[in-house]
Amino acid sequence: MELLKQRILQDGKCYPGGILKVDSFINHQMDPNLMMELAREMVRIFGRRPINKIVTIEASGIAPAILTGYLMQLPVVFIKKKQPKTMDRMLSAVVHSFTKDRDYTVCISADFLTPADRVLFIDDFLANGNAAKGVIDLCAQAGAKIEAMAFLIEKAFQHGGDYLRSAGVDYTALATVTSLDDCKIELE
Ligand code: G4P
Ligand code: NA
Ligand code: NA
Repeated sequence: MELLKQRILQDGKCYPGGILKVDSFINHQMDPNLMMELAREMVRIFGRRPINKIVTIEASGIAPAILTGYLMQLPVVFIKKKQPKTMDRMLSAVVHSFTKDRDYTVCISADFLTPADRVLFIDDFLANGNAAKGVIDLCAQAGAKIEAMAFLIEKAFQHGGDYLRSAGVDYTALATVTSLDDCKIELE
């Protein structure tokens, strides 16, 4: 998507280790006009698909998910990274964070992810796909179907995309970073 690509080239910052900082418009400060355009693009891509629920994971996925859910008039549920003391019928999965080199547990209530659900999962980044693996695990436990996954930004030099293709998951990214070598941002 051209608008997002331009913004990444204009305001994105490259950090050693293949990290793209988008703190001034997605991950810390957020640009609501850009976010809304990204949500409209999600509707263009997924609006006619048999989706009845948007699922995301806290924190950075929530903004694009809620705007897309508003436009599609669908409920939005976010997977939590902290296990609340009181959650009815909790489903959980372990996710390995490559960036932080540690495991963490994510959870969702089976009250809000059910066998009746056909899910569009939305997140900010697809990197190694570990968060996505956790989502696939939770949906399998709930008996929910993943209709598709959508990311704002895919880092194609990491392996999340390969994993999703091999798992037969239909996914889209609004912008694809092909390289951050020598701290130069290259987009597809
Ligand atoms: P993975 O889910 O694709 O395997 O990602 P990984 O474990 O490598 O990354 C963990 C966290 O880092 C995720 O956010 C992911 O969105 C984010 N991330 C990965 N690569 C980049 C990058 O190049 N730039 C930025 N800005 N973020 C990246 P998170 O820690 O789970 O949390 P949150 O930001 O959604 O709260
Ligand atoms: Na994220
Ligand atoms: Na993030």
